[in-house]
Amino acid sequence: MAHSLRPRPDQELSDTAEPGLPPSASGDAGFQIAPFRPEDAETIASWVTTPEELLWLAPATPPPLTAEKVRGWALPNVAAYAMTESATGDLVGYAELNRMERDPHHQWIGHVIVRRDRRGRGLGGHLVADLLHRAAGEGAAARVSLIVCPDNAAAIQCYKRAGFDIVCDELHRFGRPPRPLRMLRLEWRASNRCHDTTPLERSGSHPATGRRRG
Ligand SMILES: CC(C)(COP(=O)(O)OP(=O)(O)OC[C@H]1O[C@@H](n2cnc3c(N)ncnc32)[C@H](O)[C@@H]1OP(=O)(O)O)[C@@H](O)C(=O)NCCC(=O)NCCS
Repeated sequence: MAHSLRPRPDQELSDTAEPGLPPSASGDAGFQIAPFRPEDAETIASWVTTPEELLWLAPATPPPLTAEKVRGWALPNVAAYAMTESATGDLVGYAELNRMERDPHHQWIGHVIVRRDRRGRGLGGHLVADLLHRAAGEGAAARVSLIVCPDNAAAIQCYKRAGFDIVCDELHRFGRPPRPLRMLRLEWRASNRCHDTTPLERSGSHPATGRRRG
């Protein structure tokens, strides 16, 4: 999909959204979002330079992040997308949409990252809005979830702007040996009705498949 960089996903673009769907930009080619290509994994891995940032992005992936580990995120029920800046051709973002095996109307967003020198310009918000549009449109999702570290203020703000609400705290266990990590669960609902998710204690398994996340 082609997109313009501004306006923000929760502002003027909402005029073009179908009722019940999150807005999705189209038209001016400020950037494009297309299926991830395995050859882009090296670039994406290079954006993560500290263990702390990898913990925010992929708490179940041990440092350092490598291209092979990025490629390993693409499980069969995962649709991975890359964002490219039209003016430069630079890869500037990456994120995944996961189908939940037990609920066809529930999807999961994972591994959202924007190239460091392009952050804070709304790209993350546009990328998430695009995934929501895909999930709610062709994917017919009524609910989209994700988890985020409580101290990742930029990510939380980015997701809230895209229409997510914080629904609960969860205690996850990541790594070997497993290490407890408090995460916030955020949800977007097509209906925008009240949420019924309750706090859970979960393992580090992949939310959609039950396999360990990488
Ligand atoms: C999370 C991430 C994808 C957001 O991408 P982005 O392009 O910067 O996102 P946006 O510009 O759309 O939104 C970021 C928002 O956070 C705000 N922000 C940035 N730093 C902040 C901080 N330290 N505290 C609070 N808010 C902050 C920005 O002002 C912006 O809010 P606004 O739209 O109200 O102005 C990006 O920061 C990133 O790649 N982080 C590293 C990987 C990561 O943590 N991924 C999330 C995994 S859950």
